[in-house]
Amino acid sequence: DMKPEVMTHPLTNAEGFILPTSFYHHNHTEMENFLKSIAATYPSITRLYSVGKSVEGRQLYVIEITDNPGHHEPGEPEVKYVGNMHGNEVVGREVLLLLIKFLCENYGTNDTVSRIVNSTRIHIMPSMNPDGYVRAKVGDEDGVIGRENAHGIDLNRNFPDQYQQTK
Ligand SMILES: *[C@@H]1O[C@H](CO)[C@@H](O)[C@H](O)[C@H]1NC(C)=O
Ligand SMILES: *[C@@H]1O[C@H](CO)[C@@H](O)[C@H](O)[C@H]1NC(C)=O
Ligand SMILES: *[C@@H]1O[C@H](CO)[C@@H](O)[C@H](O)[C@H]1NC(C)=O
Repeated sequence: DMKPEVMTHPLTNAEGFILPTSFYHHNHTEMENFLKSIAATYPSITRLYSVGKSVEGRQLYVIEITDNPGHHEPGEPEVKYVGNMHGNEVVGREVLLLLIKFLCENYGTNDTVSRIVNSTRIHIMPSMNPDGYVRAKVGDEDGVIGRENAHGIDLNRNFPDQYQQTK
């Protein structure tokens, strides 16, 4: 009876986390608390900021994860991850919250993570459409309620397009 061998650091569990991890959907307040708690726990590698407010006044949070947060370092690549543009497509939001937790916890323990954080400026926006998220209905697998923002704009179809006008 052969079990697949999983390489994990002695401190991490099977999912790669060091601290206990709950897998559940975070509403806006819970997401806000999560991000604030991460920023408070890992101040030397994070910076929580907002790019503004949604139509209904919710903060559009971004957390920066890097070795020198808040500073542009010439030559250091910057990347961004954006989730939940369609408010009713909710998995990416949770995946990004888990990525944030994973990177912060493993920094200083896992060499790969430490190298990534040291050499990259990572910006993560778990939700670009918090208003749509609130409108979306649990269990509505095929619907479009909550897809658009509160102005009826499909944010994922609203980037400049070379060929056609966007909504
Ligand atoms: C470090 O994290 C990477 C990415 O999850 C993982 O593949 C690797 O096994 C980890 N290294 C150790 C020593 O746990
Ligand atoms: C968000 O979740 C918290 C904790 O589970 C709950 O107390 C709160 O009522 C929820 N907020 C909304 C707007 O659903
Ligand atoms: C990341 O940077 C810290 C602080 O400069 C340093 O102590 C650490 O060795 C670096 N880790 C890696 C894997 O480069």
